[in-house]
Amino acid sequence: MKRDFLTLWDLSKEEIDSLLKRALELKAGKDASKCPLIGRSIGLIFEKASTRTRVSFETGIYQLGGQPVYMNSKEIQLGRGETIADTAKTLSRYLSAIAIRTYEHTRIEEFASNATVPVINALTDLHHPCQALADLMTILEKKGKLKGIRLAYIGDGNNVANSLIEAASRMEINLAIACPEGYEPNADVLEKARENAKSEIIILREPREAAGMADVIYTDVWVSMGREKEADDRKKKFKNYQINSALLACAKKDTIVMHCLPAHRGEEITDEIIDGPHSVVFDQAENRLHAQKALLEFLLT
Ligand code: CP
Ligand code: NVA
Repeated sequence: MKRDFLTLWDLSKEEIDSLLKRALELKAGKDASKCPLIGRSIGLIFEKASTRTRVSFETGIYQLGGQPVYMNSKEIQLGRGETIADTAKTLSRYLSAIAIRTYEHTRIEEFASNATVPVINALTDLHHPCQALADLMTILEKKGKLKGIRLAYIGDGNNVANSLIEAASRMEINLAIACPEGYEPNADVLEKARENAKSEIIILREPREAAGMADVIYTDVWVSMGREKEADDRKKKFKNYQINSALLACAKKDTIVMHCLPAHRGEEITDEIIDGPHSVVFDQAENRLHAQKALLEFLLT
């Protein structure tokens, strides 16, 4: 049966462990010449902008011997009203897997239920699981373990936060989220993560309280794609949630700072932090490539 990757729950802890091990091997160049996707084409449907996800998937598929087929949704019939179901059924006849970046999470669920090939979530309004895989890989690489790590997420309870919550729950990471009232992560995501968690997942208001004991401090933009109309209001509400020198002064000396990128420098994070010694953001961005190659190998071989 085909396996989809729509949220972190689609992989067991053991599968994530072995996928991260494989991603680290691929990064180190081990078995780099294996071409499991030879003669196969992978579709990439984007309904929103992307730099990292698009390019890491395109290059990763090429490196695995396959052909990436990029589709901007405005340029295919989906953008002119062809149904999600008909698009999924048709594309399944040509492609070996399809990654999709879209708005409502229900769109990718509908696509996946009609596709006969694996469907990968390349970001929805609710989740960003490929990002979370690369984030886990980065934490493992920098800190040598996942279990028991203290992760502080400071900012908007958005798609990236939701996937981090699921990742933390699966991998026994203690997660403290500091966000303004009204900007908490999705309640259902939080409830399921807490039910399944052996670690602590808490919501706080005070960024310093979250950052104080953290091994990892993580942030993301205050205004996600599709939320542009709320920008002015959000910038006011989030102004105390910036990752800056004052916040880092309360943190552990060896804390690492992560951001999925793109960053809005001067808003959720300052230049001195993102370009400073604690920051691992470009290693994290690189790890998108290795983690997604390991994911494609896992789903397609
Ligand atoms: N982090 C991430 O998904 O970046 P892009 O929007 O550039 O793909
Ligand atoms: N939360 C951001 C992540 C971008 C990679 C957004 O959805 O725009």
